[in-house]
Amino acid sequence: MTTDMTALLSIQDLQVAFRMGRGQMAEAVGRGGQGVSFDVPENTTVALVGESGSGKSVTAMSVLNLLPDNAERRGRILWRGQDLLQAGLRDLQALRGKEIACVFQDPMSSLNPVFTVGQQLCEPLRKHMGLAKAQAWTRAEALLAEVGIPEPRRRLASYPHEMSGGQQQRVMIAMALACEPKLLIADEPTTALDVTIQRQIIELLAKLKQQHRMSVLFISHDLGLVGEIADQVVVMRHGQVREQGPVARIFAAPEDAYTKALLACRPSLEGNPRRLMVIDDHMAAQAGATGGRPTTAPRRPRTPMPPWCWRSSRSPRASGCARACSASVNSRPCRTSIFSSGAATRWAWWASRARARRPWA
Ligand SMILES: Nc1ncnc2c1ncn2[C@@H]1O[C@H](COP(=O)(O)OP(=O)(O)O)[C@@H](O)[C@H]1O
Ligand SMILES: [Mg+2]
Repeated sequence: MTTDMTALLSIQDLQVAFRMGRGQMAEAVGRGGQGVSFDVPENTTVALVGESGSGKSVTAMSVLNLLPDNAERRGRILWRGQDLLQAGLRDLQALRGKEIACVFQDPMSSLNPVFTVGQQLCEPLRKHMGLAKAQAWTRAEALLAEVGIPEPRRRLASYPHEMSGGQQQRVMIAMALACEPKLLIADEPTTALDVTIQRQIIELLAKLKQQHRMSVLFISHDLGLVGEIADQVVVMRHGQVREQGPVARIFAAPEDAYTKALLACRPSLEGNPRRLMVIDDHMAAQAGATGGRPTTAPRRPRTPMPPWCWRSSRSPRASGCARACSASVNSRPCRTSIFSSGAATRWAWWASRARARRPWA
């Protein structure tokens, strides 16, 4: 998957760093001068996969510049040949929601609790599509029906809190589709949902991608989901691309040690292991095979869990907390991260990003 000018979106040598005060910069994407590069061709689903903190969201948010003001971006982000890093606010606003739409992890933080679903759906339809009120209302009803909301006419008058998590995410997808975007950026759209609803949303996204002939930049830490939905995979770690290629090749013959570790750490349906392998175990085993660490049974996480870690008193599998197994599929960061020094900064960033989540507003 090389970068080329015909791709719908082409990210070239992207580096993102955050100004942290007192002249300090925190590199988030493209660390060590190794910028991130990949393409999203037309009518293709590209999955950005990697452990928490690998730079997936920052990369995706860079496209429409939904990052906080202290972010500095370098490189090129070509949208149909136009460099978005050089684009002004007016140009970006014309793209946001219309040509490039976003769906985020937590629908409740993206939907406005004081407006009905109908009012929120009609807003982009009137603003970007120029529809009159009655037309927008009819189109909104059709969109709700398309994303599988029962009794769409009645639901237009509902407030977000009157809907389930899965329905809220369907509403977000309907809003994203409202202006027939060419690219949908879906940042962990199913992570906040339970497993059954996850599957429905993934199937919905796959169906809509075909029907609307759009491209999808699908961000996930879950390789199982990626295998189902993606055409191309970009594996990221520590702000760098480790490997990229067609999904079949990445799953069948991964080349990078980290990709191999990610695949090896997927939970198996066969057998009942004492605990799941984590990335560190697999990387250590591979190093052993090449003369480094000996290839023995999986090690326990090197870092002992602090007493307040809710996972510390649980099974060895569960005790692999974010420090040790943040890349293992389906693991959630452990609560120790709440106490980490960067938590306040990240919290502030999430808050500012939540405000930017409705860019058409
Ligand atoms: N506003 C910010 N200020 C400083 N660092 C940030 C900010 N936002 C994100 N980061 C850092 O950028 C890195 C990548 O974050 P992110 O893209 O959210 O990861 P993920 O792959 O989980 O989506 C992380 O190390 C994170 O701490
Ligand atoms: Mg993220």
